[in-house]
Amino acid sequence: MDKIYIFDTTLRDGEQSPGATMNHNEKIRLARQLETLGVDIIEAGFPAASQGDFKAVSAIAKTVQHCQIAGLCRALPADIDRAWEAIQHNPQARIHTFLATSDIHMKYKLRKERHQVLEMVEAAVKYAASKTSNVEFSAEDASRSDWDFLVQVFERAIKAGATTINVPDTVGYIQPQEFAELIQYLLTHVTNSHKAVFSVHCHNDLGLGTANTLAAIKAGARQAEVTLSGIGERAGNVALEEVVMAMDVRQDFYQVTTNIKKDQIYPSARLLSLIIGQPIPPYKSIIGANAFAHESGIHQDGMLKNRQTYEIMTPESVGRQEEDMVLGKHSGRAALAKRLKDLGYSLDEEQIDIVFAAMKKLADRKKEIFIEDLEAVVMDEIFRIPDKFRLEYLSAISGNMSIPNAVIKMYVDGEERTVSDFGTGPIDAVFNTIAKVVGRHPSLARYSVNAITGGTDAQGEVTVKLQENGKTAVGRASDADIIVASAKAYLNALNRLVKREEDMVCAKL
Ligand code: KIV
Ligand code: ZN
Repeated sequence: MDKIYIFDTTLRDGEQSPGATMNHNEKIRLARQLETLGVDIIEAGFPAASQGDFKAVSAIAKTVQHCQIAGLCRALPADIDRAWEAIQHNPQARIHTFLATSDIHMKYKLRKERHQVLEMVEAAVKYAASKTSNVEFSAEDASRSDWDFLVQVFERAIKAGATTINVPDTVGYIQPQEFAELIQYLLTHVTNSHKAVFSVHCHNDLGLGTANTLAAIKAGARQAEVTLSGIGERAGNVALEEVVMAMDVRQDFYQVTTNIKKDQIYPSARLLSLIIGQPIPPYKSIIGANAFAHESGIHQDGMLKNRQTYEIMTPESVGRQEEDMVLGKHSGRAALAKRLKDLGYSLDEEQIDIVFAAMKKLADRKKEIFIEDLEAVVMDEIFRIPDKFRLEYLSAISGNMSIPNAVIKMYVDGEERTVSDFGTGPIDAVFNTIAKVVGRHPSLARYSVNAITGGTDAQGEVTVKLQENGKTAVGRASDADIIVASAKAYLNALNRLVKREEDMVCAKL
């Protein structure tokens, strides 16, 4: 059986999804989970894009040892240098360089003729290959490119040293049958196609990402570029879980395998959701809350008689378990440390102490503590960026007989401030008060609350998106009290806005 390489680009294309920005520590944590999941290649970022991206890619390249780490770069020497500088410490570093090949991109974006694009591809791949033998070349907007021109481009790229050739459906335009024909055409007409792995990278603008990827695999592509939950530019990329499980459930049809540890699929998607503060939609295949729920009587009856009547895979096979209580009021530090280790967190003693203290506080307010609660606490306490603005204390008053009011004690660069203000509701009062303290008035582009687990004592996970001077930042936090969670999420977003401004200043220097 042929192996399909799973190339995960959650940290690069996925991070380009609106509101999905991750901080440095969150990126490293997710990369380590992708390693546990068993992806073959992690595209860790676009090192030339910003100082923050460069640092995150370098750290991931050093931390993750069992996956290839790819750095994306345009077909320009300076970009290639920067990518290589970031990834070189990984034992299996991959330079991923790209250039557009469709007439529309060449004419309007690149302002280049075909012969110039061919020369650029050759030069870029040769330059990349002078640094490593692991070079991927992508023809951006390949699906709208002239097929014979693509043949020429890929032949040149392989001759120059590319070992992986990627065929992106950049704008989610191609149809499954057509994509299969394109892949077959390339495999038969590119004279040196046997010297490279052919890869596909599909976007979901028409909702065809999975169908297109699978059609290409059936036609001979051997690498699939995917993201967790399908996050990515515009309508997103193809979802890892859909492609992997389709190939697994229908192995009889595809006759291929992957290295993915299926029982890590749900924990990985759940971690991503926690990091970016966006809940998994309930109707999402494989990982959504309803994906294994049987509502109709006929279905329930069938399930009781034989699960296979309505279940083509089991929830356990993708790592979904019944809600599992992890800690109670009387659980000890050792039990917590073991649970954290089992979940894949390698925290030092001091970090375990911090999580333990936060869990004890939570256990005073919430009867049962689940894995989701524990992960939310770890995210908030350990992986958040160092805070310029930090909440110390909050009190909010609301009700239909009083004017909503908040009093907040917080720290700004370590200096204590206590301020009070009013609002149209308690959340508005809290946000107005914080804005007064920090002297900034970003607009609130999004606000959402999501219960982390079931029960009226569930922790609320709040996501806040702020906009100021053309920049946006998403903040996220959880707490058993949603007003406190909202304040923390607002501060988290403000801290990210500040961090982003600092990064931009660094990039200019
Ligand atoms: O969609 C696309 O074309 C890309 C390339 C950079 C691979 O993301
Ligand atoms: Zn893409």
